[in-house]
Amino acid sequence: MVYSRISHVAHYAPKQVVSNDDLATIMDTSDDWIASRTGIKNRHISENETTSDLASHVAAQLLFKSSVQASEIDFIIVATITPDSMMPSTATRVQAQIGAANAFAFDLTAACSGFIFALATADKLIQSGLYRKGLVIGAETFSKAVDWSDRSTAVLFGDGAGGVLIEASDKRHFLAESLHSDGSRGESLTSGKIGLSSPFSQKSENDPYVKMDGRAIFDFAVREVSANIKQLITDINFSSDDLDYLLLHQANNRILDKMAKKIGISREKFPANMMEYGNTSAASIPILLSECVDKGMLKMDGSQTILLSGFGGGLTWGSLIVKI
Ligand code: ACO
Repeated sequence: MVYSRISHVAHYAPKQVVSNDDLATIMDTSDDWIASRTGIKNRHISENETTSDLASHVAAQLLFKSSVQASEIDFIIVATITPDSMMPSTATRVQAQIGAANAFAFDLTAACSGFIFALATADKLIQSGLYRKGLVIGAETFSKAVDWSDRSTAVLFGDGAGGVLIEASDKRHFLAESLHSDGSRGESLTSGKIGLSSPFSQKSENDPYVKMDGRAIFDFAVREVSANIKQLITDINFSSDDLDYLLLHQANNRILDKMAKKIGISREKFPANMMEYGNTSAASIPILLSECVDKGMLKMDGSQTILLSGFGGGLTWGSLIVKI
């Protein structure tokens, strides 16, 4: 049996940092309002880099750290809802930028769960025995998806990318997974609507910008995603002591506080970095993962166990328990 493991991690964010005070100079908001409701203090905003540029930085770092040649990569998956274009995909642009000529590459669209769904997919590709090395990247330039005249959403998001090299292994590292969607509640969080426009159609509007029912999303995360995480932990007969850290999507610090309580695991095991990046959607979990490795919290020697969990538009939610 072939298994898979995360062998290297990396992240990258645009250099430009925009603080809450900076935002208060262009819209009716304040550091106090944003920080007290979300925990966010800063976000990185691209000046001229695209989503594929951010993802390519991560891909290049993963090759450098692992000494794997670009030609050895079998597949590239980029999770994003802010692609450079629908065609070519962001993943094929990354493939071209790093010269991974032997890889097949595709984007995966599952909003803030995108990285989790992509990692679960990559695990199965490797388990099939057909492929041995893949890049799984979450990358967003969310700054182009927000309406900068809407203070209720513009303050929440940021740009960035993170990713992993996943490789074949003879030991099992992916211990459990739980992936879900509920399209019937899709309208509570939307962006990038593309209307009909042919001469033979009734025209319908494009609406590029993110719209959300903040309260509904807050409740969904706290009630349903927490219950799902708790169930997954119970299903594999784990106790809180068996998990070193829980790396959850970085939407809002208050959501993390409440989720930690509902799950019944000490808040100290839930690292957070939305203070520095805001909500980077599909990029938030791999950025956090890479920072935890950089800080020495995660050793990457197979001795620790973490839970990764994403939740957001679709609606989508999913969790993985992984040895790292
Ligand atoms: N600055 C100042 N005031 C603001 C701002 C702002 N940026 N945005 C909204 N307000 C005002 C509103 O106009 C409203 O004023 P009013 O009472 O005079 O009408 C007041 O603040 C309260 O607005 P609410 O939307 O009720 O604020 P709430 O306390 O619910 O907080 C928030 C909003 C932070 C978005 C919260 O609902 C939340 O955290 N939701 C979770 C959703 C989330 O994080 N989404 C991210 C994307 S989804 C995901 O990643 C899973």
